[in-house]
Amino acid sequence: MNPFGKSFFAVLSVILSVFVLTAGPARGEENSELMGKVANKAYIKECGACHFAYQPQFLPKRSWEKIMNTLDSHFGDSATLDEATRAEILTYLVKNSADSSSSKLSRKMLASLSSTETPLRISDTPYFKRKHREVRPNVFKRKSIGSPANCAGCHLTAEQGDYDEHKVKIPKN
Ligand code: HEC
Ligand code: HEC
Repeated sequence: MNPFGKSFFAVLSVILSVFVLTAGPARGEENSELMGKVANKAYIKECGACHFAYQPQFLPKRSWEKIMNTLDSHFGDSATLDEATRAEILTYLVKNSADSSSSKLSRKMLASLSSTETPLRISDTPYFKRKHREVRPNVFKRKSIGSPANCAGCHLTAEQGDYDEHKVKIPKN
């Protein structure tokens, strides 16, 4: 009798397909924790001039629109741009906003907001506050950090879009 009969292959193919089906999404899930690198030159140049160029995936479309429509009074500064540059950056931000992203971080960020809220700061969102509740407020005020807005001050791999908590190093002063 053939030991590799029909039923053996039937069982084998079931095992294999279960393996393939579960292995795929698990790997995708892990990658979706990453925000990815910021990819627009104008955005990095203009918006990265005063602070870290935040990944657009952290805020909803409506937040970026509000930020880009109020650049003349931007957190006590003026960050106005010529219209062509402003339009290019806005398009980039909207296209990559949390609403258009499949990343886990974006989904969690959106879930933490009500649809009527339009946060102007990532650091003001319930998601951010929840993730940083173990960081005491005076830690954010340390000289080399300054404020919660300075993501790269603690997240060594922020620029790569990697916010893995094991890649955080809080400066001592
Ligand atoms: C002239 C300097 C300057 C420029 C240019 C600038 N910003 Fe800012 N931005 C600030 C300051 C100051 C803050 C407040 C930082 C703080 O709280 O430590 C800020 C904060 C932010 C925050 C909130 C960060 C947080 O989560 O707390 C966002 C989002 C932001 N800026 C987006 C932009 C975008 C988009 C551009 C480009 C169109 C831009 N900024 C250009 C000065 C600037
Ligand atoms: C003072 C240092 C510090 C600053 C500044 C900071 N973070 Fe964090 N962040 C942390 C620490 C510490 C954790 C891990 C918290 C934990 O595991 O309890 C964390 C966690 C996170 C997480 C969750 C990661 C995960 O694996 O769940 C995200 C996302 C994040 N930070 C984004 C940001 C962004 C975006 C900014 C800037 C707007 C920022 N952080 C600024 C220290 C900081």
